[in-house]
Amino acid sequence: MYLGLDVGTSGVKALLIDKQQALIGSASSPLQVSRPHTGWSEQRPEDWIVACENAIEQIKTTYPKHFSKLRGISLSGQMHGATLLDRNNQVLRACMLWNDTRSYLEAAELDSDPLFREISGNIVFPGFTAPKLLWVARHEPEIFSKIAKVLLPKDYIAWWLSGEHVSEMSDASGTSWLDVKTRQWSTKLLKASGMSIEQMPRLVEGSESIGQLRSELATSWGLDHSPIIAAGAGDNAASAIGMGIINEGQAFLSLGTSGVLFAATNGYKPNAESAVHTFCHALPDTWHQMGVILSASDALNWHASVTNSSAEALNAELAETPNGPSNVKFLPYLAGERTPHNDATVRGAFIGLDHQTTRADLTQSVMEGVAFAIRDNLEALRQAGSELTEIIAVGGGSKSTFWIQTLANVLNKTILIPASGDFGAAFGAARLAFIAAENKTPKETLSIPIIERRYEPAHNLVELYEDAYQHFRSLYPALKQA
Ligand code: XUL
Repeated sequence: MYLGLDVGTSGVKALLIDKQQALIGSASSPLQVSRPHTGWSEQRPEDWIVACENAIEQIKTTYPKHFSKLRGISLSGQMHGATLLDRNNQVLRACMLWNDTRSYLEAAELDSDPLFREISGNIVFPGFTAPKLLWVARHEPEIFSKIAKVLLPKDYIAWWLSGEHVSEMSDASGTSWLDVKTRQWSTKLLKASGMSIEQMPRLVEGSESIGQLRSELATSWGLDHSPIIAAGAGDNAASAIGMGIINEGQAFLSLGTSGVLFAATNGYKPNAESAVHTFCHALPDTWHQMGVILSASDALNWHASVTNSSAEALNAELAETPNGPSNVKFLPYLAGERTPHNDATVRGAFIGLDHQTTRADLTQSVMEGVAFAIRDNLEALRQAGSELTEIIAVGGGSKSTFWIQTLANVLNKTILIPASGDFGAAFGAARLAFIAAENKTPKETLSIPIIERRYEPAHNLVELYEDAYQHFRSLYPALKQA
């Protein structure tokens, strides 16, 4: 048995598979995000441990026989967060998450040093880890002086499980401290942001073992042995592993809290100017590109909360399939935007409201606004050299027929929905545990899911959506703060 643990933003998910990679069961435990000031987004690392314990306890209680045969555990997690530990591994402050943009000035400052794009292959985005540390140095010098280790969220859980300070290439790519081509920490970039290599965890590949489950934990979980722990992957690379997306030409769209358009690439192909991310994949000698928008399902959830509804209820008010774009435009920049604008201070908008506008019209425009922002990402990936053909859709938003058909129309691409099953990040993590524990090759392990449904672009509507997209594109400059 192999356990994948996904430390997401809205909760921890634990998922157990057997050696045929069949799903035994999964469980989750929710997490809250604290936003004490505009642009801030934090979680307490201690809460991740509680949520992991909770999810694991549910698995253990529901599947005791299977759980007792656990041979490997691996991790997936929200990326970029800065978990700061002192010399005694005590957490120094709440973790600043991937969608925390308070350090946008520090990000721009680091990004203006050409070394960062040259070595890390990426823009230094405000959500990345390095600018957060510069912010702490400036605003919380007391805390900064005590930092002995900086860990990414899932790596903090790997430390809790194994006692080891280790990270892996896919997640480390989002720190701005990794030389993404040579897959090692860059002492130059660390120095340029006031950090040292001693403050970094050891680096391995995602499919490698980092050690074993600590014996105290094994005992408290009722195990008579210690399963191995594999390093795992950042959540997007983990989802790609879950869907067998490891070769050029394969792509997925994730409609979770954030929205991600992910393309596997043959080799390292940086293109920072397009604002796509070029990161290591979770397997040795592999890379990928992705465009990231900060609010995808999050935008619909926001709309649900201000209208006292739920995402499901709003979706149910829509027709089965869209028959043309809405007159209302929604710009989904609730937390600023990464690809393509790299703009932490822009905020969202509804444009084109009139007396006839209904709640359902607003829901449609929110879904379309997210689809247009994803289209911006498709264009950015194109600019970076990735031409996508078919795209597998995953994440909470992919359950809405209306939303996925809108995306097929806006992207003018076929969108595929996997057959029922769970191919997300937690499954990807469980696969990495399986590879590491049983010495399997990725090729023999990482099959692609069976496709249940194909959404083709509606050819009679594509042009209308194209015009609507061009209108959407023209609105950002008016929102951009000078
Ligand atoms: C990727 C990113 C998000 C988070 C969400 O760069 O910031 O997708 O990983 O969990």
